[in-house]
Amino acid sequence: MDARQKIAIVGAGLMGHGIAQIFAAHGHPVSIHDPNGDVLAAVPARVEAIMQTLGIDIALAANIVLCDRLEDAVESAALVIEAAPERVALKQSIFEELDRLAGPQTILASNTSVIPITEIAAKAANKKRILGTHFWNPPHYVPLVEVIQTAETDPAHIAWTLELMASVGMSAVHVKKDVAGFIGNRLQHALKREAIALVADGVCDAATLDKVVREGFGARLGVLGPLEQSDMIGLQLTLDCHEVLLPHLDNTPGAHPFLREKIAKGETGMAVGKGFRAWTEEEADGVRRRFQDYMAACARKRRDENMNACQNARDSAK
Ligand SMILES: NC(=O)c1ccc[n+]([C@@H]2O[C@H](COP(=O)([O-])OP(=O)(O)OC[C@H]3O[C@@H](n4cnc5c(N)ncnc54)[C@H](O)[C@@H]3O)[C@@H](O)[C@H]2O)c1
Repeated sequence: MDARQKIAIVGAGLMGHGIAQIFAAHGHPVSIHDPNGDVLAAVPARVEAIMQTLGIDIALAANIVLCDRLEDAVESAALVIEAAPERVALKQSIFEELDRLAGPQTILASNTSVIPITEIAAKAANKKRILGTHFWNPPHYVPLVEVIQTAETDPAHIAWTLELMASVGMSAVHVKKDVAGFIGNRLQHALKREAIALVADGVCDAATLDKVVREGFGARLGVLGPLEQSDMIGLQLTLDCHEVLLPHLDNTPGAHPFLREKIAKGETGMAVGKGFRAWTEEEADGVRRRFQDYMAACARKRRDENMNACQNARDSAK
């Protein structure tokens, strides 16, 4: 994969600047556009801070060019990744514009969390070059990216994108059908639906629920996926459990009323001191620090392992 290929990022917020960092750190020229001038101006400092944490040469942040105009950002880009707010109408109009402004060879991708790519591409003329690249938050720490194919995406664009993602150290998977939420968010929100229902039903409080996940089956999820685990213990046990359990799982249509009530009461999460749990500022900072330190340590370890593997490959080729 040619590291000189230009990558354009549209939307420089939480996800956009982190995605820009990944490509810049691997030597790609990156252009980034955001209509909010303050957000755009903050990109270099935010990217340098990530590079410093990961032990990457901060001079590589200079690979990123800030663009006030969308047309300048997308000019001659091999790939455009849109990371604008999660609103269907906004994304549709961005893709209509991208399709008009970008050269015919440019692949257009959305980082949407859950919206089907087909819906986002609805107003674009050339749907063959539109696909999904779903990075996880924070993109510079979480290795996975889901590459989503619609019924109209050219398979060659999917293959190219998977190869590009692997070349910048991402663990890329091919999502073969454009279903809402793709793979990861369908699984994550199926778990959240049941978690909210258990707390709403008084089975446990939110702190207990989180402990059960973190210290129970969550403790093995990093090394053992749910289907590997089923294979390991034998499918009969999974079937036996499903026969008893599945009729009892939450199947509230739509979002759970408990979640809606919390939001209506202004209990929207750590930022306001109360969500599913009550948080002092100190407690909230402690959780954020724990998360940041753990994710950064994992990312540094992966980077060292990759560098060692590359060195070993070079040594054995001599
Ligand atoms: N935050 C997450 O945990 C997460 C994880 C995975 C995927 N995503 C997805 O990534 C996308 C971006 O999310 P985020 O958390 O970075 O949001 P964000 O609000 O932090 O950033 C969005 C940025 O887009 C800019 N923007 C607004 N209108 C625009 C336009 N017309 N053109 C270009 N930029 C525009 C905003 O100024 C803002 O800086 C969303 O689709 C979201 O669902 C988010």
